[in-house]
Amino acid sequence: MDRDALKRAAAERAVAEVTSGMVIGLGSGTTAEIAVALLGEKVAAGLQIMGIATSERTASLARSLGIALTDFAAHPQLDLAIDGADQVELGTLNLIKGLGGALLREKIVAAATRRMIVIVDQGKLVPKLGGQTPLPVEITSFGWPSTLERLAAAGYRPILRQTGGQPFVTDGGNHIADCAIVTIADAARLQADLHAIVGVVETGLFIGMAAKVVVGGPQGVEELTR
Ligand code: A5P
Repeated sequence: MDRDALKRAAAERAVAEVTSGMVIGLGSGTTAEIAVALLGEKVAAGLQIMGIATSERTASLARSLGIALTDFAAHPQLDLAIDGADQVELGTLNLIKGLGGALLREKIVAAATRRMIVIVDQGKLVPKLGGQTPLPVEITSFGWPSTLERLAAAGYRPILRQTGGQPFVTDGGNHIADCAIVTIADAARLQADLHAIVGVVETGLFIGMAAKVVVGGPQGVEELTR
């Protein structure tokens, strides 16, 4: 089975939990986009939902599929969010997100939803967060070189994410420092320490936010809960 088929299997399982009347957080990334496409098919078949998108890219995909979008002013609380992840820690279900650059909006949606279902292929499961996957940290564009220095001085080995030779700009107008933190022994402590650094907007650590992780693997779909 190729990886896309595993992502699709996980997305199908999560989308099966969506019912008419729900306000849905629409995630970002290749796996979440499969879920959005499946939701689009269901909407075309009569499902009535409204979505809040975690990125401009997802918003335009949703619009193109006829999924009605709403906002936090109308719906400060969502019923369900479906999103991908870059790493899922077995046991805790803590996540690293943000390799696609949408971590701030993704985290705001995750914090505002009654339930967050994370959809991944089996390759995203890790015994401990960190290792080869950098931790994306969103930083303000104003003063970013100083913020990068502070992150480096604290030992987080940050690299400014670039695209086409220019700093990558998030939907919120910020930049991203990808931090090579090899061992994340205490995710909550790291989260607090990073937030204490001036210029840091948000981190890609999602702690205690996933209610369920749906994993697509060669043997089928598995659901992990805390
Ligand atoms: C976007 O910023 C990320 O948090 C994505 O959810 C994450 O990178 C997973 O993306 P894929 O499903 O493309 O691996």
